[in-house]
Amino acid sequence: MTTALFSPIRIAALDLGNRIVVSPMCQYSADDGVATDWHITHLGMLSNSGAALVVVEATGVERRGRITHSCLGLYSDDCEAALARVVAHCRRYGNAKIAIQLAHAGRKASAQRPWEGGRPLDGAADPWETIAPSPLAFGPGWPPPREMTMSDMDRVCESFVQAARRALRAGVDAIELHAAHGYLLHSFLSPVSNRRTDAYGGSAAQRMRFPLDVAAAVRAAVPPSMPLGARITGNDWVEGGLTPVDAVAFARALKEIGLDFVCISSGGVSADARPVMVPGMNVQIAEMVKAEARIATRVVGLIATPKRAEEIIAGGKADMVALARAMLDNPHWGWHAAKVLGADVVRPSQYQRAAPNLWPGAMFQD
Ligand SMILES: Cc1cc2nc3c(=O)[nH]c(=O)nc-3n(C[C@H](O)[C@H](O)[C@H](O)COP(=O)(O)O)c2cc1C
Repeated sequence: MTTALFSPIRIAALDLGNRIVVSPMCQYSADDGVATDWHITHLGMLSNSGAALVVVEATGVERRGRITHSCLGLYSDDCEAALARVVAHCRRYGNAKIAIQLAHAGRKASAQRPWEGGRPLDGAADPWETIAPSPLAFGPGWPPPREMTMSDMDRVCESFVQAARRALRAGVDAIELHAAHGYLLHSFLSPVSNRRTDAYGGSAAQRMRFPLDVAAAVRAAVPPSMPLGARITGNDWVEGGLTPVDAVAFARALKEIGLDFVCISSGGVSADARPVMVPGMNVQIAEMVKAEARIATRVVGLIATPKRAEEIIAGGKADMVALARAMLDNPHWGWHAAKVLGADVVRPSQYQRAAPNLWPGAMFQD
């Protein structure tokens, strides 16, 4: 049986053996941005999930750009050394390529870990000043961020470039910029969070300007052979917010400055966002972006079964699928999907006896 999900794809000069990607997932387990043994455990495990690519969680390009005190960062030599150790571990024991998501949390920074409530840090919890395009709070109870000056923008842009250089030295195979979920780059793009009256606010082109400046600066620092992409928002799910048409325009502009792929996600721009949570919720948007912007397109959001993932790729709706929660639930998701679809994946020698013929029945139904 031939399967689209298990067909190879080349992005820039990176060859991926299949279309399955482990979506970036914050672990809130770093120590001043420095990866810990939890990252070795988590990413080491997912490097043997059957996915061709594992994306390391949103990684703060500067200290104040982390969501929580425990988020991963890439703003110090210690951060870089710890990431290099994690990447080397995954490469030695795993079979996936490793990408990293570079991020700045903007007005959603200085928050508690999700399991502590995910609320803004209070005075006793060592909060910090947040920055954003406009001094508008994310939602009720959130502090208004400080409106960024030109010098803030220069500094953040330079931090993205420096973090990309650190990521290259740490040995990653690909880099993606986080321009979704209401974090800093997305908050510039969206009229919900960007009310600037200078050249970085107003029209769609002006709201795109800072994120595109960052993307162009990072592109210039990353060799053309290395895939550079961005996670973008397909829909703000807020009245007056970004729509799929805006996602197409942004994807086109990213392609123009040399980015190799986009990942279509949605939501998170403000506490008012009401995403429509249905299986494959972003697939239609991805299909539109892929067709109209003609850039390699990944899609994420409630994709959990091999059959659905196969349909997305075989139907030409996206070039890659990213899975987050399904991978946590079943860190050998790719192995089981291969079994269901009649394909195979590379497995570590130590686990050869478990597959592919241990269970005669299918593991999934759908
Ligand atoms: C524990 C957890 C952490 C996440 N952290 C990130 C992140 O660092 N960057 C990001 O872009 N999305 C993050 N997300 C969102 C996922 O990457 C994904 O887009 C979302 O969960 C929808 O996909 P799913 O239905 O396959 O889980 C996170 C999701 C989870 C469950």
